[in-house]
Amino acid sequence: MEKTFHMIGGEDEASYSRNSSHQRLILRKVKPILEECIQQLLRDMKETDLPNNCIKVADLGCCSGPNTFLTIQLMIKSIDKTWSKISNTKLPTIQYFLNDLVSNDFNLVFKGLPRVYENLEKENGRKCGSFLIAAMPGSFHGRLFPDSSMHFLHSSYSMHWLSQVPRGLVMESGMPKNKGKSICAIKTSPSNVHQAYVDQFTRDFTTFLRMRSQEMVKYGQLLLTFLCQDSEEVEGSHYLLLMGMALSDMVTEGHIEEEKLDTFSLPIYEPSIQEVKQIIEDEGSFKILRFQNFKTCLDASFESRTLDDGIVRARYVATYLRAVFGPILESHFGESIMDGLFHRYQNKLVNLVEKRQGLLNNLVISLRREW
Ligand SMILES: C[S@@+](CC[C@H](N)C(=O)[O-])C[C@H]1O[C@@H](n2cnc3c(N)ncnc32)[C@H](O)[C@@H]1O
Repeated sequence: MEKTFHMIGGEDEASYSRNSSHQRLILRKVKPILEECIQQLLRDMKETDLPNNCIKVADLGCCSGPNTFLTIQLMIKSIDKTWSKISNTKLPTIQYFLNDLVSNDFNLVFKGLPRVYENLEKENGRKCGSFLIAAMPGSFHGRLFPDSSMHFLHSSYSMHWLSQVPRGLVMESGMPKNKGKSICAIKTSPSNVHQAYVDQFTRDFTTFLRMRSQEMVKYGQLLLTFLCQDSEEVEGSHYLLLMGMALSDMVTEGHIEEEKLDTFSLPIYEPSIQEVKQIIEDEGSFKILRFQNFKTCLDASFESRTLDDGIVRARYVATYLRAVFGPILESHFGESIMDGLFHRYQNKLVNLVEKRQGLLNNLVISLRREW
């Protein structure tokens, strides 16, 4: 995961940069909560808590493309607006860290930075030097920043990715526990598969919180948005179940070897709301300020009104999911099956989008470092 995992980079038609409007919609929906967090953070923090009048923030799992830049804009505007309301002193310097895994397309991000600086100067009057952007490549499951240095950490649509495929998905006989069922843990997965994913998520999320608690100042805030389980999910409507079914069809049709599919599992887990709460409480460094969820349709960000039919919508969904899952699927199954796989996947999604099923359940939590 740490060395090779990535979304589709660049700016081609298939790239994450061109196919991430769903994640952008989520950023916009969470904007009022982001503003609220920044307000509370700056109120909790006295000016003396900002050494060198510098506030340090980071976006964890920033990826590359318009969402990376939108997040920068949202955070900076929010800090500036709040500061002007609560203090009549000079705006603090902002040091902004872009974090993602080393295979992320950071070059694309760097190329877009001059534009970001220009816009911030035009719209916020932020002069060069009062706002400094740096990259911090590496896994957020490990340490990223010095002790007690960070004020605000944000992460959207990244925390459901695990540090690895859970161990223990194979029985002693060598038979995969998930055989023929799915490529991750979903509602209908066998309980031992589910448990292996819960254990991995618990380890990863606990480590994540522990690392951040060491890096954050007292009263620093963490805002996390990620996918969680939908307890009201319609049976058989999970989008990753359908991806597993498309792969299974390709085994039946002889395009993929059965063993290849049996040895594939995705390092992704959508925890239940209770699991997340319990891990935060057990880890103990953070106070929960906000804990809420909202659902979105898979095609919620589809904007065209002229081609409003299921096939077009399903193609839209399959394309943005390919920008996310394409690289990891390709590294296991090979490039040659990819078009066929996503064509079959798109066909399976039609029914789902037409019935407005397969909802994504988005969990938003804000946490405050208490001591
Ligand atoms: C779906 S993208 C979300 C990107 C962006 N935040 C957005 O809202 O569009 C998920 C990102 O999380 C990153 N990611 C996954 N696991 C990570 C980890 N352990 N450390 C840092 N980044 C990680 C991926 O590389 C990917 O860029």
